[in-house]
Amino acid sequence: PSYLDACEVVSLKDRRLWWRSCSEGHPVCSPAEPAELSPARACYRAARGKPPALGISWLSGNRGSGYYTRRGGVGESGDFITSPEISQVFGELIGIWYISEWMAMGKPSTFQLVELGPGRGTLTEDILRVFQQLASVLSKCDVSVHLVEVSPKLSEIQAVMLTGGKVQPSPEDESAYMKGISKTGIPIFWYRDIQDVPPGYSFYLAHEFFDALPIHKFQRTEKGWREVLVDIDPEVPDQLRFVLSPSRTPATQNFIQPEETRDHVEVCPEAGVIVQRLASRIEKDGGAALVADYGHDGTKTDTFRGFRNHKLHDVLSAPGTADLTADVDFSYLRKMARGKTATLGPIKQREFLKNMGIDLRLQVLLQNSGDTATREQLLHSYDMLMNPEKMGDCFNFFALLPHQRLAHPDKKDKPESKSPLPPVAGFNELLLK
Ligand SMILES: C[S@@+](CC[C@H](N)C(=O)[O-])C[C@H]1O[C@@H](n2cnc3c(N)ncnc32)[C@H](O)[C@@H]1O
Repeated sequence: PSYLDACEVVSLKDRRLWWRSCSEGHPVCSPAEPAELSPARACYRAARGKPPALGISWLSGNRGSGYYTRRGGVGESGDFITSPEISQVFGELIGIWYISEWMAMGKPSTFQLVELGPGRGTLTEDILRVFQQLASVLSKCDVSVHLVEVSPKLSEIQAVMLTGGKVQPSPEDESAYMKGISKTGIPIFWYRDIQDVPPGYSFYLAHEFFDALPIHKFQRTEKGWREVLVDIDPEVPDQLRFVLSPSRTPATQNFIQPEETRDHVEVCPEAGVIVQRLASRIEKDGGAALVADYGHDGTKTDTFRGFRNHKLHDVLSAPGTADLTADVDFSYLRKMARGKTATLGPIKQREFLKNMGIDLRLQVLLQNSGDTATREQLLHSYDMLMNPEKMGDCFNFFALLPHQRLAHPDKKDKPESKSPLPPVAGFNELLLK
């Protein structure tokens, strides 16, 4: 069980015990602090149980727990807006990517579409529309949808979006907590953890998921690596501040790579664990994973930030009320998949979408739309997704694929006997007609 579960069930008395038990040397949970109304406690409650001993990570983790359960966040009326909420074309092209990979992998008779952190469900809805439009191509394939979502509020919104609200809770002994049938007739299941999704040939999707997971922050000092932690500012009541750990912490010892050259580093161990799980599943059962997020390839240093009402927000003020996020380090994800799957990318969003045929799709939609307002909206959303100054350059696509998808296993022995493997769409031009 996670800390989240633990905090919901334990009594206040036990909570205080727990609070003290993790106080060793850590400034946030200093026993000297009056527990009831201190900002640390308010923050702790807002972050819903991430241990202060993990320093900044519990604060950044509020996106998957307290923040999402309380505010929901995604969409024009929320704190931030994501690509699928901007344009239907985004999800449609991702739907085409899965069909293209399914064909390149020999059209297996069944696959699971597994989305991590589906938000309002918009992306899955756009993908399912493509699957429906290409029903003749997929007619012999048994498709099911599996959504990994921790937020009860968002899973309800997804259920309405995808099934019209026709869902039922699953019996206790089933790994899914809810199930239903999509408006297009495909079975859908909800889980809290990727480990609960049944094994099987799967296409995974993580769009703006990894950036929502908690990070650790580190700083190189003359005395070696130190962890950036959260403390109560003794000068200003009810105000949090960042401090450096006085000595090395378990995290500095475990998460800093020996070859690290940067002076400030952010590491998201939970992302590493999830990528390892995805890679193991793909290696064993087949499939592919598409990850899309803002991020870098092991070069950036300080990216932890908050958003509230579409504006930058101080991560230390009013915790639990803002969307907190950090850029995804794709070089770290690549390391975590190493040995199990091949990886492609990161490639910039505008290159990926261009390769997937966004220009052609835009032209078709423009021709089919009768009114000026719709055409303006289509052009505006295209600009948001593709403009290098907007989302075009800072968002990246990254894929995990079985090794044999990129190279024939016995290619070295008999290179001439094998037909060339089709290029992976998005990272190359889409060949599917
Ligand atoms: C930024 S939203 C992305 C939404 C959607 N993919 C989109 O692009 O519109 C992050 C999503 O991840 C979910 N989430 C955050 N942490 C999670 C976790 N540890 N496990 C499963 N879902 C999580 C949130 O509840 C939310 O649905």
